[in-house]
This record gives sequence, structure tokens and C-alpha cells, in this order.
Amino acid sequence: MAAQQEPQQETYPPPPDLARDAVAQPELYERADADRLAFWHDQAKELLSWETEPTEVLDWSRAPFARWFADGRLNVAHNCVDRHVEAGHGDRVAIHWEGEPGDRRSITYAELGREVRRAANALEALGVRRGDRVALYLPMIPEAVVAMLACARIGAPHSVVFGGFSADALRSRVDDAEAVVVVTADGGYRRGAPAGLKANVDEALGDPARGGGSVRTVLVVRRTGQDVGWDDDRDVWWHDAVDGASEEHEAPALEAEHPLFILYTSGTTGKPKGILHTSGGYLTQAAYTHRNVFDVRPESDVYWCAADIGWVTGHSYIVYGPLANGVTQVMYEGTPDTPTRERWWEVVERYGVTLLYTAPTTVRTFMKWGAELLEGHDLSSLRLIGSVGEPINPEAWTWYRTHVGSGRTPVVDTWWQTETGAIMISPLPGVTTTKPGSAQRTLPGISAAVLDDAGEPVTDGQAGYLVLTEPWPSMLRGIWGDDDRYVETYWSRFPGRYFAGDGARLDEDGDVWLLGRVDDVMNVSGHRLSTAEIESALVSHHRVAEAAVVGASDDTTGQAVCAFVILRAREDAEDAEDAEDEGVGGEDGEALVAELRDHVAKEIGPIAKPRQVLVVAELPKTRSGKIMRRLLRDVAEGRETGDVTTLADSSVMGTIRAGMGGPA
Ligand code: WTA
Repeated sequence: MAAQQEPQQETYPPPPDLARDAVAQPELYERADADRLAFWHDQAKELLSWETEPTEVLDWSRAPFARWFADGRLNVAHNCVDRHVEAGHGDRVAIHWEGEPGDRRSITYAELGREVRRAANALEALGVRRGDRVALYLPMIPEAVVAMLACARIGAPHSVVFGGFSADALRSRVDDAEAVVVVTADGGYRRGAPAGLKANVDEALGDPARGGGSVRTVLVVRRTGQDVGWDDDRDVWWHDAVDGASEEHEAPALEAEHPLFILYTSGTTGKPKGILHTSGGYLTQAAYTHRNVFDVRPESDVYWCAADIGWVTGHSYIVYGPLANGVTQVMYEGTPDTPTRERWWEVVERYGVTLLYTAPTTVRTFMKWGAELLEGHDLSSLRLIGSVGEPINPEAWTWYRTHVGSGRTPVVDTWWQTETGAIMISPLPGVTTTKPGSAQRTLPGISAAVLDDAGEPVTDGQAGYLVLTEPWPSMLRGIWGDDDRYVETYWSRFPGRYFAGDGARLDEDGDVWLLGRVDDVMNVSGHRLSTAEIESALVSHHRVAEAAVVGASDDTTGQAVCAFVILRAREDAEDAEDAEDEGVGGEDGEALVAELRDHVAKEIGPIAKPRQVLVVAELPKTRSGKIMRRLLRDVAEGRETGDVTTLADSSVMGTIRAGMGGPA
């Protein structure tokens, strides 16, 4: 990582009226600095309703395994729905949902409560007990929210698997969590067509010899009406199980540390990690960050987080944070270009969206499509816009503020991770003078540092490793079934401090600039992908002997997957047909590259499909056999190759370049 000198940037102080009225005022930092644990204790009590209020705050005696508010008891679903109805807000719309084909539903808090209680009864009737895991594999439909809350209500941790993942990816996640029920849909709409989900579930669970054996029931929402295969012993329609269920359901008071969900994310090895989150601390920080970072006014705001429920952003900022705060939100099923590239701006206008939260990759896509598409739309309702998922470059930040924020709204660039559960570093919109491209400061109650290799704080604006120096309420409680990996991955690089895996730099004001991942994790369109996982998918193809994957920078997606593969020698090829192939050049080479790209999509999901697959004769390796991805990244990004002195064979890079017709 080289420390970059950022150009002299314009900065943006908070609008004066917001500085005066904002939910979060400068004293929030003062309160947190004065007594961090008392501060979190107050947040927990002020923002949530507890069956038994906690008297304990943090138990760090078994560090790094934290317990927060451990003697408190609460029900997360009650906090997200019922209590708002009890407070007289039952008629407030919780979700304005819009399907991609244009169908719409507005669901009040009272209606959402009834649906959640029915679904909770239905899950219990199917034998789901407290502590059982339920996998959800769903499109962006209201039932996804209902199912998550129903699980939370009965204390059955959910494991949401992104609907774009393949059958294999679903199976491995179902197996790791030993889920007893899978909730899915026949399909969902994407880019104007119904995409199947149930078929993938059938493939994932169809052959018990391969896995999926823990699943007793598949609950299927009818969304698209497409034909689906059916197993009478296993499959149940959602409407048959839920619609007739009682809408009376007593929410049990669960321990603050009761597991709320598992969410799988990519790490540096091929095996995804099941990140475990629990109830009281998670909900406290999700509600606290949502309220203060987005300056939420539940009576008047219309909030829209355009993430998918399959990622942590959908968990914390579509489901738990916004609903705990009782806000009205928009939920949209499909892609931004269906039926036209103006879809988003129509949605903003239709519902009068005031707060918008999306990813830099989407902003860059809109930039590419052109600002004209926004011009015919009234976006004056927007008063604050947020960014998450990857570093936002200053150009995209400025474009976002100018064209989406009409040149006046604050932009909040929020840094966090699946593991942190909630936002950690972000401006506060009524307090912070924003700088395009910087996530700026740790939120009140959060402590971070940037360290060098030796674990010393960096100075003079040099790049280093971002660490979190104190435990926080919504921190992961571990990796499902693998305590050692939790300690090893996050707490061993700098003992006593949480290693985030991101590079960062502090500027002269102490503001944080994120520089991207420092490990073998790529960030493609804000989605985390592991190089090792894609490499093992490639190697599982019978033509591939060895593969190396790197994330090369990409103008739209941030990073793009670039794969370098060495093919097996002819005589090794298992498939008889291949024996007839001659070499890999020309049409045959193109066909093979297409096949390899599809193979990765099939193994992991379309998001992991490499942008490029380059067939090479050798890979650059160190004397100890480690692939030097840095050099491959130079090739993929069209740069001159950096220092090659640690290569076992220094001529390899020349061979690779020569094979590609590029400069050696
Ligand atoms: C990256 C998504 C820069 C970072 C919430 C992190 C960011 C990873 C930002 C987590 C940001 C997320 N600026 N980088 N504002 N937000 N990242 O687990 O590399 O899907 O480690 O959580 O995304 O991705 P995850």
C-alpha cells in the first residue's frame, strides 16, 4: 500500500439548520468519551425495550469472546414491531414494497406484527424450537422481513443466504449451520424475468449423500407463479402454513446473548465463515447507528436502503435498525435498470424518499449512465444520502452529492463489516464537516487505530492496518462452530486488538481514509469474495491444473475478478472429448474461457464470475511456493511489473506477458 496524497478537496460543513436540530449533537462524543460503558448502557436502555433491563454492560473476562448486557432479557421482534403498535403507531407504514414488475404493497406496523406472529406460529407448528437454525433463501419480498422477524421472535437464529448464490453455496451453508428449515420462494424478478430459487433448493437438498440432510421442511413463498418441483414429504407452501395460523403469539423474553443470526461471509480461505451475532448488543448498536448516522425522524422520514437482505447491510439497515427505530421505509425487489434506468428516481419521487443508503458501485453506475436521467425527477425530498460497502472515490462522492443530493444534502460514508454488525466509522450529519472520500471518524462509543507492521500507530499520514481497540456491542460473538478460527483470524495479528483486514490512513485532522482490503479478499460491487474460494472453484474444473485469482481495479465495480489458470496437460484431461482439442488458442480458447467463467458462476454464483480468465503457462511464485498476487495484479491492471526479486524464477513474468502479447 502506498500512501496517496489526496488532492486539495472541497469540504462541506453541515447545513446550519441540521447542525442546530440534528438528532446527534457534539455532546454525543463527549458523553461516550467520558464513560464508554455507561454510554452504551444508556443507549441500550433508551433505544430498546427490555423485559428485564440489563445491569451488566460488558463482560470481557473471556476475551475475545464478549458478552454485552448479559443479564438483560428482551425480544428482538417485539422491539422491531409490537412495541411501536403498543405506542400507538400501528397505522404507520413500516414497508412500502415495490416489486420489479411494478406490483406494490404498503404494510403498516400493525399488519407487519400480525404477519410476524402468524409466521412465528407456523414455524413452531413445523417443529422449529428455540436455538434451531433456519436458512432463508429469498428474493427481496416482504416475506423475507417477516421470516427473519419470525425467527427472531421464537429465538431460532436465521441464516440468510443471498438469492444470487448457487445451489452448492446454499448447501454448504445449510450444512455448516445444520438448518432444520429452508424458507424460499418459487422465484423472484430480476432484470425483467423470473429467476428460479426453489429449483436451486431442490438441487442443494436433492441428494442426501451430498449434504442438506438436516433439513426437514422447505417453506415456499409463491412469488412468480412459475412451475416448481415438489416433494410432498418436505415442501410446504408459505400461504398454507402462515395464512391460516393464529395471529396471537406471546414473544418470549430471551437472553441478551441469545443468538440472533448467522451470516456467512468470505474469508481468506475457501471456506466461508459463519459470523455469529446475538440479540441485545447487536440491536442496541444497529438502532443507535441508524438513528444517529441517518438523523432519523420516524414520524416524517421515508428511508430507503437499496441493499439486498442477503448481505449484512440488509440485516442491520433494512430489518433490525430501521424497524427498531419505527421508521417508514421503501423496499425494492429488482435492479435499477428495469424497466428503465430511471426506476430508482421514480421510486424516490413516488414515496418521497428522504434518506437514501446505497453502495459506491451503484453511484458509479449512475455516473456512467449520465446525470440527465435524474434531471426530469423531483428529488427534493432527499435530505441525507449514505454510502457503504467499499471505499468511495472522491469523484463518485461528489457526483452523488451534486446530482442525487441536489448539491445540498450531507453524504455519510459509513465503514463497517459483517463482523462489526453495525456502522463503526462515519460522519455524523449535523456535526461533521465532510470530506469527499473519507469515512472520517469513529462513532461515539467506538475506538479504532491505524497500526504499522510492528503494531505501532502510524504517523505522518502513512498507510497501515485498521484495528478496533475496544469491544463494541454489535461485535461478532464468534465464527459458527469454529472458535479457533475466530481468534486466529481477528485477534492474533495484533494481540488484544481486532484486525479488520482493511488498510487505512489518517490525515492531518485524524480523519480515516480507507484503502481497501489488505488480505486475499476482493470487493466486487461491494460484495466480499475470497480469492481462495474462486481459485478452488476453478481448480474443480477438469481442465484446470492451477489457478490464481486477483482483484483488479475496475471503474464501476471497484474491483473485478481476474483469474490466471494453468491448464492440465492433455494426457491428464479426464474428459475423453478434450483429447481432441488442440491447444487453447482461437475459438477453442474462447469457448474454454467462457466455460470456466460459467463454471465459477455455477459453483459460487454469478457475482463471482471472473471478468477475465487468462490461460498462462506458469504462475509467479516465491521460493516458498506462495503465489505473488501483487505481480498478477500488475498484469491485470496493465501496469509495469513491480519488484520481482523474490520470485523463484524471475523469467516467469516475461513468459506471462509474452503469452498475452503485452509488454514484459
Ligand atoms: C469494505 C459491508 C471503505 C471493507 C458493510 C470492509 C468499506 C468490507 C466501506 C466489509 C466504506 C465497507 N469504505 N470500505 N465505507 N464499507 N467496506 O462484510 O473492505 O460485506 O472490510 O460488510 O467492505 O464487507 P461486508
